[in-house]
Amino acid sequence: MKKVVIATEKPFAAVAVDGIKNILAKAGYETVLLEKYASADEFYQAVADADALIVRSDKLTKEAVNAAPNLKIVVRAGAGYDNLDLAACSAKGIVAMNTPGQNSNAVAELALGMMIYMARNCWEPGTGAELKGKKLGIHAYGNVGKLVAALGKGFGMDVSAFDPFIAPEVMKKDGVTPVTDMTDLYANCQYVSLHIPATDQTKRSIGYDLISLMPKNGTLVNTARKEVIDEDGLLQAMTERNDLKYATDVAPDTLAKIRDCVGARIFATSKKMGAETAEANINAGLAAAQQIVDFFEKGDKKFQVNK
Ligand code: 3PG
Repeated sequence: MKKVVIATEKPFAAVAVDGIKNILAKAGYETVLLEKYASADEFYQAVADADALIVRSDKLTKEAVNAAPNLKIVVRAGAGYDNLDLAACSAKGIVAMNTPGQNSNAVAELALGMMIYMARNCWEPGTGAELKGKKLGIHAYGNVGKLVAALGKGFGMDVSAFDPFIAPEVMKKDGVTPVTDMTDLYANCQYVSLHIPATDQTKRSIGYDLISLMPKNGTLVNTARKEVIDEDGLLQAMTERNDLKYATDVAPDTLAKIRDCVGARIFATSKKMGAETAEANINAGLAAAQQIVDFFEKGDKKFQVNK
């Protein structure tokens, strides 16, 4: 009997776990659940005889891969797979997948929520501002960026996007203005919403040069990855300009230092919560389970991210 381990330090909603178990049981697989684990050792023990693994942001390091000699497939139930050591997986012939698009709506809604929160003085008394009529720049027009654009348009925002990997026609069809120079996006948009993945190319790529370009009352919203921000550059820009704001899911490494200097102009969630909805958990979790079954039963590798 194949053994599938769900290892989630940040658990799925119970209804999603039930759905995953159901799909795997129908295929005749055993499910083992490891939630809220406190150490890498617990993770290693749980995967010791796993044939398949479902994770969220849980780190699948080279050590973890070596601790799972039977592992044939790992599915990151979500979009970003910067938590998986893909080289280590490939070296052991393990197929790594994500579940693109499945939790995007939850993240997109959080991005708009953060814009309103910052525009309304973090719910503190005082005159705020409306999103309507403001320029919204989407940095990377993937599954989440596309949804943020649509929601922004719903709020009456003037939406443009920068993404060198997406044809301008795709954006135009959505009523979004394509921007070919990234600096123009930052220079022209009061709100910029980040949706780039964390890669060697993008880590610390958003810093002083871009953030200081933002127009008056510029608000940067990051529901992507904290690692894409150059925190020193962010602090420098926000110190020089007392109108700039930053909302992020999740907290930067230097939150205390930044907060000391900029106060409530920075908001950070304490635990990444973009995909923390029952709907997103169900969509991503069930997709992960189905992808595992399709892989074992039909050899389907459609969502493989390592080659
Ligand atoms: C993703 O990449 O899918 C999101 O960042 C969600 O991550 P999570 O599953 O850890 O909440």
